[in-house]
Amino acid sequence: MSLPSRMPAVAYSSPGSPDVLTDVELDVPAPGPHDLLVEVRAVSVNPVDVKLRRGADPGGQPRVLGFDAAGTVVAVGEAVTAFAVGDAVYHAGSIARPGTNARYHLVDERIAGHAPASLDWAEAAALPLTTITAWETLFERWALTRESTGTLLVMGAAGGVGSVLVQLARQLTGLTVVAAVSRPEAEEWVRGLGAHEVVDRRDLVAEVARVAPGGVRYVFSPYSAGMVETFARVMTVGGSVVAIDEPEGLDTLPLKERSQGWHWEFMFSRPLHDPESTAQRELLDEVARLVDAGVLRTTLTARLSPVDAATLAEAHRRVESSSTIGKVVLTAS
Ligand SMILES: NC(=O)c1ccc[n+]([C@@H]2O[C@H](COP(=O)([O-])OP(=O)(O)OC[C@H]3O[C@@H](n4cnc5c(N)ncnc54)[C@H](OP(=O)(O)O)[C@@H]3O)[C@@H](O)[C@H]2O)c1
Repeated sequence: MSLPSRMPAVAYSSPGSPDVLTDVELDVPAPGPHDLLVEVRAVSVNPVDVKLRRGADPGGQPRVLGFDAAGTVVAVGEAVTAFAVGDAVYHAGSIARPGTNARYHLVDERIAGHAPASLDWAEAAALPLTTITAWETLFERWALTRESTGTLLVMGAAGGVGSVLVQLARQLTGLTVVAAVSRPEAEEWVRGLGAHEVVDRRDLVAEVARVAPGGVRYVFSPYSAGMVETFARVMTVGGSVVAIDEPEGLDTLPLKERSQGWHWEFMFSRPLHDPESTAQRELLDEVARLVDAGVLRTTLTARLSPVDAATLAEAHRRVESSSTIGKVVLTAS
């Protein structure tokens, strides 16, 4: 198949509201040695897209956002071993490279997975970034196993990352999963994903005491601002938090008295600092197997189309409300 030399994409060239997103035409990029050139069939939007669009200045040059994608491999670099033209893939890419809001996208084969065969493009595109984050939190930062026990409190449980983390913790560990939400529709969603208990995050100390009177061993924190003292109170001695956001001026000293820990998870650490690792490919492949076996399910809740500036602006507005449940996905026309 011969590929076009130019492609439609959505970019921004100075930071601002969703209206800075613009339809542009760019060169189709050529794969480097380890790259897959992917024809993008669907993308999902994450809070990182919103944060970059608002705060990262591309200096007047068009920057393409978008990390999650599902699509078909249309060309491969000369060193690629794990994929071939025609393969269906899903991936979250690297924050250091142009994004997926384009007809074609380059991704390093070491951070892409084979897409679940049982999902359509949109259902698959909902998963990669949040899945990598949730997986690395549970199985790398905390090194949990099927034998692990104790109680895990999942903040933001109905959000993109929480919706995968609840499922992974329920299916692949022995933990009791307590999901924190603020709305009835979020409660219904997280119960469907397998949460053992659901608590109201607006009255966290009393609510955790109700379902886990001895305290929780683990806290997953996607919304950490102002929460350190509360987490110190709801955790056991030696409990630990994994946080994934970037709260300003964080002070973790309240955790000292009970020897509690604070850890960070950043799913772009590997693409940025350990590019030869194939761990993210392996975890995406494993998650695809678990999805196809019916153990895990997609977190897609909203489908928009096509991937153009107007539709992406609408998706950004939804995601920046911090009130979406599951994931907003756009499919290419
Ligand atoms: N470090 C990493 O690698 C990494 C990866 C992915 C995401 N992140 C970051 O993690 C954060 C969450 O990402 P996400 O995709 O899961 O977000 P999301 O899908 O936008 O989260 C929305 C959900 O969060 C809940 N929520 C809203 N405000 C909250 C608060 N103050 N406390 C607790 N829950 C709240 C809402 O439900 P209720 O109101 O019903 O509770 C809503 O369902 C973002 O800051 C994102 O940039 C970091």
